[in-house]
Amino acid sequence: MNLYVKNIGQLVTCRGKQAKYGAEAMRDLSVVEGPAAVVIRDGIIRFAGAAKDLDLSLTEGCEVCDAQGNAVLPGFVDSHTHLVFGGYREDEFQWRLAGDSYMSIMERGGGIANTMRATRTTSIEDLERSARAHLDAMLSMGVTTADAKSGYGMDLDTELKQLEVVQRLQKSHPVELFSTFMGAHDTPEEYKGRSTEYIDFIIREVLPVVRERNLAECCDIFTEKGVFDHAQTRQLLNAARAMGFKLKMHADEIVPFAGAELAAELGCLSADHLLQISDEGIKALANSNTVATLLPCTAFSLKADYAPARKMIDNGCAVAVASDLNPGSCFSSSVPLMFALSTIYMGMTVEEAVTALTINGAAAIDRADRIGSIEEGKQGDLVILRFPSYKFLSYHFGVNLVRSTIKKGVVYTN
Ligand code: NIG
Ligand code: FE
Repeated sequence: MNLYVKNIGQLVTCRGKQAKYGAEAMRDLSVVEGPAAVVIRDGIIRFAGAAKDLDLSLTEGCEVCDAQGNAVLPGFVDSHTHLVFGGYREDEFQWRLAGDSYMSIMERGGGIANTMRATRTTSIEDLERSARAHLDAMLSMGVTTADAKSGYGMDLDTELKQLEVVQRLQKSHPVELFSTFMGAHDTPEEYKGRSTEYIDFIIREVLPVVRERNLAECCDIFTEKGVFDHAQTRQLLNAARAMGFKLKMHADEIVPFAGAELAAELGCLSADHLLQISDEGIKALANSNTVATLLPCTAFSLKADYAPARKMIDNGCAVAVASDLNPGSCFSSSVPLMFALSTIYMGMTVEEAVTALTINGAAAIDRADRIGSIEEGKQGDLVILRFPSYKFLSYHFGVNLVRSTIKKGVVYTN
């Protein structure tokens, strides 16, 4: 698509092709104050900058989109979601409000196992319908790319079914997806007490099929006390790497478990959650290429302590923020809530939060060379706010500020 976005009041470029580490880099949004313009041709940005520098011949044949003096940012990247699932867990949420804990519900056969049972019996069409509705909502909040994990099947057929839904959506929905296989989300009933055998099963019988059918780019695991330990994580992720998968870990979510250190050592794209990260873990991530992906809506929903974002950024980590959308620990994909919690509760500046949801989110899914910033050669993925400055993203909290989301040069207006 050819698109000319004119009358931009503030162009927040987030310029860069890799993750930004530490406060100084994360606060540099490379803002061009308006009037500014962006030209997208064949889905790729060909111009981004001050309007006075634009050669108008570049806009020939372009559809025109008037930003009306509002701020324009890179499309948001939600680098951690469990988009495809069957059923809901509204009762568990009420139990948690009354004091029950996430892990105790899980130990009693609820939690992930509850959603696994529902996902196994839900048709592919119904799974797709529900995931599509979430993607529509995400697009309306400015998300142009999202991770989508499997992990509610935990048998070959259902894991493939979930990933097929991701593939179908990829072909039919504007939000671009990064497909992540997460069979190691929990140990299913059939393998109760035999979690290492379950990991063996994934390595022998599931991963090769996922690879052969090109259904996922990445492999993730829930490394947590009582779920999967370090040895099991190494076994799975080393095997996955050997088959060509990129790696991610759910790490240090519920109790301190040295997950961040392991993620850095294994070369994961990201270590996610990190509510319980240690000082050693922070050091390990700061000295690695692994992005620290924080999921503040999950901490909010679990009434848990937030990840120490301030300390992590001040010690040189590259922090991304994502939703963790799932039917249990966080049934929300809210971008406004992510901005509010990051800035009000996690001590991040609004600039750091913008970086965390754009270029650092892109790095967390290994796409920082293509998306996450507004600059020539990158994909034409933009957000037009209804306000003149990105600062409204924290100031005008809890409200969807997105007027239009642009994906590869196509405009979707709310
Ligand atoms: O990232 N912690 C593990 N996995 C998800 C929760 C999944 C669920 O409760 O259904 C998470 O929080
Ligand atoms: Fe998750």
